[in-house]
Amino acid sequence: MRGETGDMMMAVTYTPEAGETPVPLIALCEEDLSAWREDASPLEQGLAGADFRARPGQVVIVPGPDGKPARILLGLGASPGEASAFRTLAGRLPPGEFRLEGRPSGLEPTDAALAFALGLYRFERYRRRETAPPQLFVPGADVAEVESLAEACALARDLINTPANDLGPAELEGAARELAGRFGAGIEVIAGDELLAKGYPAVHAVGRAAAPGREPRMIEITWGEAGRPGLVLVGKGVMFDTGGLDLKPSAGMRLMKKDMGGAAHVLALGAMVMEARLPVRLSILVPTVENAVSGDAMRPGDVLATRKGLSVEVGNTDAEGRLILADALTRASELSPDLTLDLATLTGAARVALGPQLPPFFTDDDDLAAAIEAGARKASDPVWRLPLWKGYLPSLETEIADLKNDPDAWAQAGAMTAALFLQKFAPAGAWAHFDIFAWNPRAQPGYPAGGEAQAIRGLFAMLKARYA
Ligand code: BES
Ligand code: MN
Ligand code: ZN
Repeated sequence: MRGETGDMMMAVTYTPEAGETPVPLIALCEEDLSAWREDASPLEQGLAGADFRARPGQVVIVPGPDGKPARILLGLGASPGEASAFRTLAGRLPPGEFRLEGRPSGLEPTDAALAFALGLYRFERYRRRETAPPQLFVPGADVAEVESLAEACALARDLINTPANDLGPAELEGAARELAGRFGAGIEVIAGDELLAKGYPAVHAVGRAAAPGREPRMIEITWGEAGRPGLVLVGKGVMFDTGGLDLKPSAGMRLMKKDMGGAAHVLALGAMVMEARLPVRLSILVPTVENAVSGDAMRPGDVLATRKGLSVEVGNTDAEGRLILADALTRASELSPDLTLDLATLTGAARVALGPQLPPFFTDDDDLAAAIEAGARKASDPVWRLPLWKGYLPSLETEIADLKNDPDAWAQAGAMTAALFLQKFAPAGAWAHFDIFAWNPRAQPGYPAGGEAQAIRGLFAMLKARYA
């Protein structure tokens, strides 16, 4: 994918060369501020003055006699271990070389370097950036881990940002093959009408309307020795979501190139797992379709077969994600996994509930939920648990099939009813579902507008604790 989505190497391994003198950078949390003031030069005190409160992401550039940056002050906020200010920093620093020379002892250098690397991301496939990115040397950082995680997140963001004319089902298959090749993993791809013969009727029904060359696919990557605990990652791969015949209005369709965000996320999380050689048997399942309109498109009122054998009435062709995930989750349960995680840009209702920055997750397993929350906290990668409230199950009932894909309006909680639908197909053991937005709607320093990796750094921290 590297070649196709553009060069995404980032300055995550910067090491100053002999003779170079990088600009020193001091990271301060609020409680260290007064101690710092006592030692600071009058110039620094003057510049940082009353304005510098070490608020999270606050940056002061102290000039030297030549007017060039001589020292950088970075605020970390109230909690010394919180590294996300480094992400903002990446969006605020001018080009040049910098070196982290002061930090609270609670701040992990690796976390700081990773946050900085994530903040440097730009999508450059169609237009290159003119200025060189700033480079930050962080003594003590685990460079290999920073590179692995930053590159995986950049892969996810590149895939999400790439429009559907350059990233259809065939190109996503190409990206999956490249990833599998990189780690010596196995890959099987079932495409087009073969999906019917191999038992993926819902994936076929959703994807069959796409143009020739853009046929639906079921992608399955397998890595790691048999006999290890099975970890299955399932990602929604809707390369573009027109809504099908129940067509989306233009505002709602505008961002639907990102509807393969779940697929991009599980490829990236899989890359982290394989790079770290976690002792698991990993399967990455990506049902890949284009929810298109043609004479062959599925219709409202159609009743679909699923891999599990449950019949589903299509009340709305725009609720396509849960249909393809149904077959993929059934496939997951056939693998008898220790743990199944699915990620999907599944509902607009998730964004209404929690906004674009905070993905909800759903599980009935309290231990798993606690582990997910601990990983999210450790990685500064927030998620929020919502319940699988069984009182809303009747909203999925219909007269003529086992269930329907458009829940009754009385239940209202659309992210939850979608999760309840998935639960009908999910493995009986540990399972969690993430309804991600995968997108920054508005640019902020360190958070360029466009594709965003959500929840996977936290999940990787959770998986390391569970398996390593
Ligand atoms: N891909 C969309 C969900 C979506 C929309 C995610 C906007 C992020 C931003 C999904 O396929 C969809 O259209 N869901 C419908 C379901 C409804 C028809 C039951 C929705 O959320 O409106
Ligand atoms: Mn849809
Ligand atoms: Zn969709």
